[in-house]
Amino acid sequence: MSGTDTTTPHPTVGRPLTVAKARIDEIIDADHRLTRLVYVYLACATAWLVFGTLIGEYLGLKFTWPELGVAPWLSFGRLRPVHTNVVFWGWTSLSMIGLALWVVPRTSQRALHSLRLAWVALGLMNAAVILGVIQLLAGVTNGAGEFREFVWPIMALFASGLVLLGYNLYRTIARRGTEEIYISNWYILAAFIMTSILVTIAYLPWFQYGLGDTVIQGYYMHQGVGQWFTPMVLGLTYYFLPKFLNKPIYSYSLGVLAFWTQVIFYTMIGTHHFVFSPTPWILQTVAIVFSVGMLVPVFAGTGNFLLTMRGSWRTITRSYSLPFIFVGVVTYFLGSTQGTFEAFRTLNRAWHFTDFTVGHAHLTMYGFVVFLIWGGIYGLVPRLTGREPPQLLVGMHFWLAFVGLVVYVGALSIGGTLRGLSWMSGTDFLDSVRLMEGYWLGRAVGGTLMFASHLVFAWNLWSMRPPALFADSGTTVQRPPQVEPTPAGATS
Ligand code: HEM
Ligand code: HEM
Repeated sequence: MSGTDTTTPHPTVGRPLTVAKARIDEIIDADHRLTRLVYVYLACATAWLVFGTLIGEYLGLKFTWPELGVAPWLSFGRLRPVHTNVVFWGWTSLSMIGLALWVVPRTSQRALHSLRLAWVALGLMNAAVILGVIQLLAGVTNGAGEFREFVWPIMALFASGLVLLGYNLYRTIARRGTEEIYISNWYILAAFIMTSILVTIAYLPWFQYGLGDTVIQGYYMHQGVGQWFTPMVLGLTYYFLPKFLNKPIYSYSLGVLAFWTQVIFYTMIGTHHFVFSPTPWILQTVAIVFSVGMLVPVFAGTGNFLLTMRGSWRTITRSYSLPFIFVGVVTYFLGSTQGTFEAFRTLNRAWHFTDFTVGHAHLTMYGFVVFLIWGGIYGLVPRLTGREPPQLLVGMHFWLAFVGLVVYVGALSIGGTLRGLSWMSGTDFLDSVRLMEGYWLGRAVGGTLMFASHLVFAWNLWSMRPPALFADSGTTVQRPPQVEPTPAGATS
């Protein structure tokens, strides 16, 4: 036979490996100085992500190869708080703030009150994290309280950045061009107010001894996640989800219900970290009851987001930012519901001292908070800079991070449960260490995938950089938004 037979279908053609992603069809005409500010916040945050999780990766490997690095500054005790503080204050906080610096002016229909204050705050916060890392590597710590290891002068630097930003955003909202305050701004402003109070209370010297310190530690630890990371990232999602889906949020009232129940229930759950400790039994019981109450905001919040997504699955699969948001929402539901169960005395008895808690910490902080942040970044930055990341690399980022998370959390949840049960049955401690070997290896594999995804993400962020990143020219004024979520729940 000569020539080509065009009638015979080719067996390898016609079935693409992945769904083609839709390109961003909207470029927002924003003040380039604000774009640069947002981008630099995100870039600093990403540098902290890579550094902080490199440390996390090393710590994870140490469980399998304990002899890996014996210098004092390479010890587990010094590096663990470096990992947690860097990912908390460096990566997660700065990236959320970077996004909020866009969302608040946009939904308030006003320019940001002061770009300069925001730059100063960025300097203060970066300085705090750099000094904090040096302090911890030198073997100096504020004490045994988790996430409270930076000494107070360093945390004061961080807190002053927080207060400056809170003021800046408050002033922007106060001069808003809309009658109502959009729900995102309720969450974001509340997060700044509650966290400034929280950090102050946690660092006041009067409570830093004895059982009082334990109660404050519980309050600080869980309010850190519940009154800073959670409301900030939920506030951002109330803007990004309807914006990227181009439809209104399912129910504005459900958002308000979730907001107030979150504020009420979260405030009282700190002592669930110290179930069976010598803290008053009644306080522990209150914390457990309020942990059950947390189901209300969690169900209301996730229900609202999922109902907003209903009927838009095609848009979600064809977008490269929305799958991150979908995973974030589902993980918020799973991780928080898991947390409620962890608070029960019968289950806490088995899980408390095991790796199950570390699994929960990553399921929530990483699966929920970080995935939502990535969704926001991938949706927003190309709209601001006009530059899209390579779609294949965004896919790589998503799958490496997602599979890594599943392996990481799966290994620690199963291993942690078996270990807790083995302790309860009176098995020898060393046997329980041997039991964990395979699961720790699983965590090292999951962690490696997650870390690799962060390198891909860093490259993707670089490929989305604004064209005028290093040039300081022009003073374009922000235009009022065209299609934005509004308080009334409709897109205008
Ligand atoms: C909303 C419902 C939630 C409840 C009831 C809950 C409950 C709990 C409980 C009981 C523990 C302590 C386990 C133990 O030490 O025995 C815990 C630990 C933890 N949770 Fe949650 N959780 C919830 C949501 C979240 C969310 C949304 C995040 C993150 C944004 C989060 C982050 C953490 C972290 C980081 C730890 C570990 C703290 C440590 O270092 O000891 N949790 N949670
Ligand atoms: C490559 C990714 C990551 C790896 C390999 C990793 C690894 C680790 C390791 C080994 C620990 C110490 C666990 C222990 O004491 O037994 C840890 C703790 C922790 N990490 Fe990560 N981590 C990663 C990413 C993150 C991110 C992005 C966040 C937050 C946004 C985070 C938040 C935490 C928290 C809150 C703890 C304390 C958990 C607890 O005490 O229950 N990690 N991580």
